[in-house]
Amino acid sequence: MTGTTSRAPRPAADSALELPRYLRESDDRRTPVAYAGYRSTALRAPLRTPVDLPQRLTEVTGPVLGEDRVTAADADLTLRMGGEAQGQRINVFGRVLDSDGRPVPDTLVEVWQANAAGRYRHVGDNWPAPLDPHFDGLGRVMTDSLGRYEFTTIQPGAYPWGNHHNAWRPAHIHFSLFGRAFTQRLVTQMYFPGDPLFWQDPIFNAIPPSARHRAIATFDLDRTQDNWALAFHWDIVLRGTDQTPFETDDDGDVA
Ligand SMILES: [Fe+2]
Repeated sequence: MTGTTSRAPRPAADSALELPRYLRESDDRRTPVAYAGYRSTALRAPLRTPVDLPQRLTEVTGPVLGEDRVTAADADLTLRMGGEAQGQRINVFGRVLDSDGRPVPDTLVEVWQANAAGRYRHVGDNWPAPLDPHFDGLGRVMTDSLGRYEFTTIQPGAYPWGNHHNAWRPAHIHFSLFGRAFTQRLVTQMYFPGDPLFWQDPIFNAIPPSARHRAIATFDLDRTQDNWALAFHWDIVLRGTDQTPFETDDDGDVA
């Protein structure tokens, strides 16, 4: 995984084209791909040291997002299939920043989450909690010129996931960030403050202790909407000492 651009000098090439270079992720900042308490990582985590791919034209210039296909309705998960979702309405907002605190505009931010009862609309999720006919749990938005994003959604519920006896995931929203290059795909999860399930969740606890607070949103009373919605603030920092902990596995399963 890589993040913000750097214009550091590059070795001389055949052409005069200067490509942007993306900072490499340092081992001491990354969430481990294998974590003893997170059982399925034992089956899917690479056994060999990852190989950094060269950053050539394809890697640093693609893909074209087609952001014209992202509509305002995509950022409101509470209105789907002709009706309104059940649950506590919330606004989730923040900025995408680089390690120097500069906003990162034009980033595709995608989210997916369980419904208010803690169930995904997914073939692999069959635990006995109700589906909501007006909630698919999917949203997307582009960051604006100041790096800002905002979603209206439903407070997700906790759900059991079978990792160990009586294992429950703390409420969370999955985030994917897609920048202007294949090397800018980043995947993480946002948690809610004060969740009583943090202590027993190996996915949350796989994050280095010093970084865990950066995966938790802040309740923002000033941004709540009277008679409408609560508000949670969460900035995503790409690289540097304030870096948001990112997952190194982006398989997007229901865990
Ligand atoms: Fe999840």
